[in-house]
Amino acid sequence: MNLKPWMAAAVIGLAGSAFAQDDSTLSIDGEEFVTETEAPAHLENVSTIYSGWRFRTPETQALQVDDFDNPAMIFVDQALDLFQQVDGTEGKSCASCHTDGPEEFAGLHAKMPKVVDGKLMVMEELINTHRQDAMGAEPWKWSGADMQAMVALIGLQSRGMPMNVAIDGDAAPFWEKGKEIYYTRYGQLELSCSNCHEDNYGNMIRADHLSQGMINGFPTYRLKQAKLISRHNRFRGCIRDTRAETFAEGSDEFKALELYVASRANGLDIETPAVRQ
Ligand code: HEC
Ligand code: HEC
Repeated sequence: MNLKPWMAAAVIGLAGSAFAQDDSTLSIDGEEFVTETEAPAHLENVSTIYSGWRFRTPETQALQVDDFDNPAMIFVDQALDLFQQVDGTEGKSCASCHTDGPEEFAGLHAKMPKVVDGKLMVMEELINTHRQDAMGAEPWKWSGADMQAMVALIGLQSRGMPMNVAIDGDAAPFWEKGKEIYYTRYGQLELSCSNCHEDNYGNMIRADHLSQGMINGFPTYRLKQAKLISRHNRFRGCIRDTRAETFAEGSDEFKALELYVASRANGLDIETPAVRQ
């Protein structure tokens, strides 16, 4: 069966314009966040960008405004312990070398993914490179609890800073590849990322209020799964929903897609770790 896009819309149940993003303001511990701003110049079809927070229910939103209520913070605390934990053949912990603690990484998340020596690197790879090369430790699984807790801990150091990934120079070819994937229609439903997150944000799809698919809150704590969800895990889920084969976590395709999707959020404040339904 080869569904045309208009049929796909019927199958997945896009329910027409229901309600747009809400207009509440996100403040965490008294600090106000930019959840809506002018789209970066490279975006052709969208003039304003919104954080996914603006599309969530008041109940879900509330879990993000106070760190004591935010269930993701348990994992951040676990990562603080991991940071101190000796592992691997070299007898070192992260803290052995990063003596100022994770605070040293303030601002890093805002610029990720980035190109290092000609290779596109995402945070998970930076962390595993260090575990293997500097510590002689086993790499962590991409979407494993330890890895995503550490990604969240490092991301938290940039909370409240605007996303600002580079898309020119060395990054340009990766960015172009990511953009191409974003606009490719996948699966029996023949849907691209843009069909849902650009053409239909604000609409309901089944019981879900469609956002612009931004990653400024990742890793996010999903209430449904009761754990932290990686960016690539979310991409996989979205592609699977189109009834397509998907790329692997950590694949070149998903890394390029991550760079492109991150660049769509340039200007929005980082909310890591955000809470989602
Ligand atoms: C043996 C010392 C050593 C250990 C152990 C170590 N690191 Fe590093 N790390 C470094 C050095 C040196 C740099 C800067 C040079 C570089 O990027 O390789 C760095 C850079 C980084 C960066 C990238 C910063 C940037 O701006 O790109 C991250 C992220 C990082 N470390 C995380 C960790 C984590 C998490 C651990 C523990 C799992 C860890 N490191 C363990 C020495 C170490
Ligand atoms: C069939 C429609 C559909 C398609 C196609 C789709 N998504 Fe999604 N996506 C959703 C829904 C529904 C959600 C959950 C509600 C929301 O946050 O928008 C979601 C959530 C997301 C989120 C989480 C946003 C947040 O704030 O937590 C990201 C990131 C995302 N999608 C990226 C993508 C990317 C990249 C693609 C293309 C590979 C894609 N999506 C394709 C429907 C879709």
